[in-house]
Amino acid sequence: MSRTRRVAADADGIAEAAEALRAGRLVVFPTETVYGIGARADDEAAVRAIFEAKGRPATNPLIVHVDCTARAATLTSRFDEAARALAEAFWPGPLTLVLTLRPGVVAPAVTAGGDSIAVRVPGHPIARALLEAAGVPVAAPSANRSESVSPTTVEHVLKTLDGRVDVVIDGGFCARGIESTIVDVRADPAVVLRPGAISISELAALTDVTDVGHRVEVPGHVAAAPGGLARHYAPAARVVVVPEDRLASEVAALRSAGRRVGVIARGADHPRSEPCVALEADPVPYARDLYAALHALDDAGCDVIVIGEPPPGPAWSAVRDRLRRASSS
Ligand code: TXA
Ligand code: MG
Repeated sequence: MSRTRRVAADADGIAEAAEALRAGRLVVFPTETVYGIGARADDEAAVRAIFEAKGRPATNPLIVHVDCTARAATLTSRFDEAARALAEAFWPGPLTLVLTLRPGVVAPAVTAGGDSIAVRVPGHPIARALLEAAGVPVAAPSANRSESVSPTTVEHVLKTLDGRVDVVIDGGFCARGIESTIVDVRADPAVVLRPGAISISELAALTDVTDVGHRVEVPGHVAAAPGGLARHYAPAARVVVVPEDRLASEVAALRSAGRRVGVIARGADHPRSEPCVALEADPVPYARDLYAALHALDDAGCDVIVIGEPPPGPAWSAVRDRLRRASSS
């Protein structure tokens, strides 16, 4: 029998999951971005078990999830004006702040031994109820095996983690569908390390931010999120991103070469050819549905997924980032 217990997102399920967390076990829970695989952040053995379940290198630190800004502030030795402004505007919600670690507050494995800590207060009601009931900070990466596509449903989670975690809370579909935006607020101006559910322009309206994408050529720039550089967010199928006007010919060429080709189309007037998932032309619903589309085409047995290049501009930067990683080999 599988070690994994699947529980409903009701009072009993949340109480059971909170108890498991407190006891040092691994609990998968929904957030508004993607599902997370959580362990209490002050328990080194529990945190190490996350790395093992995911097959994640120990050098890649984890985001710590807490139930409120006051608890977030206890994890850092410096919660300054920029951090406060962003927390006030976006927490609870899909924003992660990289802060100066207050020594001793979490197990060393969480931060991969480093002196910064990534913190977020999620907005999903189940995640919040779980964190409140557990009463401890919870380290949680996305609930997928390392380098594979993040999960936006429990079915996606179980594809790679069934038997590797203790409890899974079934919270339905994740409303945002793309990971949190990560901002390093130790730098001035603050640096966006990973574009995500909150757009750069929403951040820029509040505080000075630099997109790491524009800083990579600058000597001494702040590194991107450590886990964000390699091939990532990738399905088993090869992902090919092509300009929209070459999509139909690319699909035809691959098919005539005998490949089973899946297509992710954008907007209504896009060339469709089955198997195909049509996503909306707006970046928010596109991001929400992208991972589910990659999972679905993988499940359909495609060996290549062809995707039309997203438009330029900041509104699409999180989607462009994920497609770039998914298609890098
Ligand atoms: O939306 C999300 O952020 C989801 C949900 C579950 O909260 N979590 C998530 O975690 O995407 P994960 O582990 O899949 O991605 C976290 C990223 C990694 O690229 C990691 O390198 C980076 O955050 N990170 C963690 N701690 C960091 C730190 N102290 N400094 C810089 N980057 C950090
Ligand atoms: Mg991840």
